[in-house]
Amino acid sequence: MRTIISKAVDFIEHRAGQKERLALVLGSGLGDLVDLVEDKVSIPYSDIPGFPISTVASHAGELVLGRIGKMDVALMAGRIHYYEDGNPAAMMVPIEVLWHLGCRTLLLTNAAGSVNEDVPPASASLITDHINFSGLNPLIGDHRPPQFVDLGNAYDRQIAERIRAAAKSSGAELHEGVYVWISGPSFETPAEINMVRNLGGDLVGMSTVPEVILAIKQGFRVGAVSLVTNYAAGMRDEVLSHEHTMREAARGSTNILKLFQALIADLQENPLK
Ligand code: HPA
Repeated sequence: MRTIISKAVDFIEHRAGQKERLALVLGSGLGDLVDLVEDKVSIPYSDIPGFPISTVASHAGELVLGRIGKMDVALMAGRIHYYEDGNPAAMMVPIEVLWHLGCRTLLLTNAAGSVNEDVPPASASLITDHINFSGLNPLIGDHRPPQFVDLGNAYDRQIAERIRAAAKSSGAELHEGVYVWISGPSFETPAEINMVRNLGGDLVGMSTVPEVILAIKQGFRVGAVSLVTNYAAGMRDEVLSHEHTMREAARGSTNILKLFQALIADLQENPLK
């Protein structure tokens, strides 16, 4: 494992230099953030040793290094999901590579369904915590210490405050809630969505939780935001599909992009303590 990580890190640093960077994983709808990157070096995952390639049509599949404003960034445009290959640790190599590239903060985004009537499609929602409803864990079988990882502050409270402040200063509307990971790739049933609501969930999706667990084990500070693309199953008389997700993600992307621009500028000016 270590050798594949060093190979990937050497390869990326050879192309883009060695710098401390802010790491971001871009889900559906956040791809436009890539257009804000200056002095851009884009590397397809297929060129990077050990990087898994997403089979989801709308996911770009490249690592983009450069600057947004004055902040050095490493963006993962696209990510592999558990449901693509049945491996909950599919994101282990990219997360460890980002760490060894010098990234210490990881911001994750995703598309999600909303189980709340007052959080409509195209909204942005800060993830304050998660419920892992998959029965899976990316750390199973990973015997490197620490084996037992504390998730009590997985969604870093200081980052969450900075995300709220960025929403205020940029005028972006921001809700917040608990994200429930259900494996996918089928959407949920209405009965499952009732269960999610009864469990205390606000958002439902097929990603992010395994990356958060891997990132916390690695030592990252983590923040996460969902772009709501639909009311969850049974809440409206509509058919859920990936096309529907992409259409609504495009509608909500302006709001979430201005939030991230403000957040990145703030993190650059006032680094996390
Ligand atoms: N359920 C699961 N994942 C999703 C949804 C949903 O309703 N919308 C976008 N990703």
